[in-house]
Amino acid sequence: MIEYFPYHRKLLKKKEVKELLNYFDQTLLHLGTMSGGDTETTREIKQVYNGYFEDQRANQIVYDALDRDSGFGWRTIAQTTERPMLSKSKLGQFYHPHQDSPVLGDYSTSLVLNDDFEGGELQLRVAGEVKNYRLKPGEAVTYPTGMDHCVRPVTKGERRALVIWTKSSVTDPLLREIACLSNKVYHILAKEKDKKKENPYLFKDGIEQASNDPLFLVDKIFTLVGRLMVASGIVIKND
Ligand SMILES: [Fe+2]
Repeated sequence: MIEYFPYHRKLLKKKEVKELLNYFDQTLLHLGTMSGGDTETTREIKQVYNGYFEDQRANQIVYDALDRDSGFGWRTIAQTTERPMLSKSKLGQFYHPHQDSPVLGDYSTSLVLNDDFEGGELQLRVAGEVKNYRLKPGEAVTYPTGMDHCVRPVTKGERRALVIWTKSSVTDPLLREIACLSNKVYHILAKEKDKKKENPYLFKDGIEQASNDPLFLVDKIFTLVGRLMVASGIVIKND
């Protein structure tokens, strides 16, 4: 599963970044105690500023972007995504190396909105190796909450970012991997059909034809994982 994370991609369109930056600048932020990692009071000067969008429209921009990102969908099998937390790091501010609490979710997503600053790289330890991410506006990286990470000190300007936590509907890691892989295969097959201008979900002769179609079969595997979870009592029930 580790090969699918960190998941780095462009998540937001230019105009969405612009809109979110406007909302960001209108939001009152507080010295951070909500970062999930950096909560020391003795280094107050080093703490970042946090807050939440007051306007639901701003959150919706982020939710919509995640919804259309199939790579995020098949990797995380998201059940719930918390409202984005705003994070503003001024000169000298940083997040010290830490892991995010599993209480926050199974996956963290860091999304950067501006690039007129220096320093402030997102650093992750991936399979023993340290990787630095200098994200462009609208780019995001999703990684498991249990992955070591930090944000390096800002050396010039001000870094504006969002942090988003997501819970997966598949709680068991092994089952999540099976579900994740079958989900990925499903998306590849659907895309191939789409390229051939076929409706991926229309089986002209109904169930008989579907029974020999890889898309239908992999969908069944995904559903079987769900059945297994329900039978084992390890599924988070929908409200
Ligand atoms: Fe964190």
